[in-house]
Amino acid sequence: MKHTEYVYLTPMPVRIWHWLNAFGIVTLCITGINIRFPDVLNIFGTYKAAISLHNTAGVVVSVSYTLWLFYYIFVAGTLAKLYIPTISDIKTGIFRQAFFYFYKYFKGDPNPHHGTPDNKFNPMQKAAYLMIMLVLLPLVIVSGVLLMYVAPLREVIMVIGGIKTLVSIHFLIACCFCAFLFVHIYLATLGHTPLAYFKPMWDGWEKVEHAEPHGDAHSSGHHELTDDGHPVKGHASMGAA
Ligand code: HEM
Repeated sequence: MKHTEYVYLTPMPVRIWHWLNAFGIVTLCITGINIRFPDVLNIFGTYKAAISLHNTAGVVVSVSYTLWLFYYIFVAGTLAKLYIPTISDIKTGIFRQAFFYFYKYFKGDPNPHHGTPDNKFNPMQKAAYLMIMLVLLPLVIVSGVLLMYVAPLREVIMVIGGIKTLVSIHFLIACCFCAFLFVHIYLATLGHTPLAYFKPMWDGWEKVEHAEPHGDAHSSGHHELTDDGHPVKGHASMGAA
């Protein structure tokens, strides 16, 4: 008999932010390639149209990022807990997770990390999302704003080394985003089914199946434990034959 549990993992504001942001970043990547390499890709009619769409997508991503940050800091209050790797994540967790992705996954072994609302991300996700959300996204937004307002912000641009340095920084970060997208989407398909990790990003709930029934464990005061040994919170439980 299988026991199925549903864990409410991704609140609605985060889901709305995520898909708006994903759409915005993909638009920025495509329009960015059109602007940087117009001989290779020219699909927006005019060069000016590609720039306008790029700027509009940049504003959408910047505003939604600000709301995301506000939500995680002031509403949920879980930014540090979810996104900052612990010492044990850095010492062993990242390697254990990488070993799973590179080897154990292909043997059919289970993922060593089980997401809970309080500890949603595995150590590799924490490190990658921290870098993307708290370093690269703010940097690409600031460099993008400077590029949108070159004349009024000329003095600031000179301080950071001039327009060429600014363009190079913006371009290099954009390359990181393109690389991140491929790895992110690939890793997101490595759940127990290819779409298992997409479900909580769509309706909020993650489906967790156990080989053993959990009813007895719960009634005897036991709870499922996270990697850190904490009881799992936010569960809705359903027995399934
Ligand atoms: C078409 C593009 C994208 C797809 C299909 C996609 C897919 C997913 C999926 C399935 C998840 C849930 C599994 C997981 O936590 O890894 C997720 C979470 C996440 N993704 Fe994406 N993603 C996309 C683009 C992006 C972009 C561009 C960014 C950042 C710049 C991003 C940042 C994140 C973050 C931070 C989370 C965790 C959200 C949270 O629960 O707080 N994603 N993504």
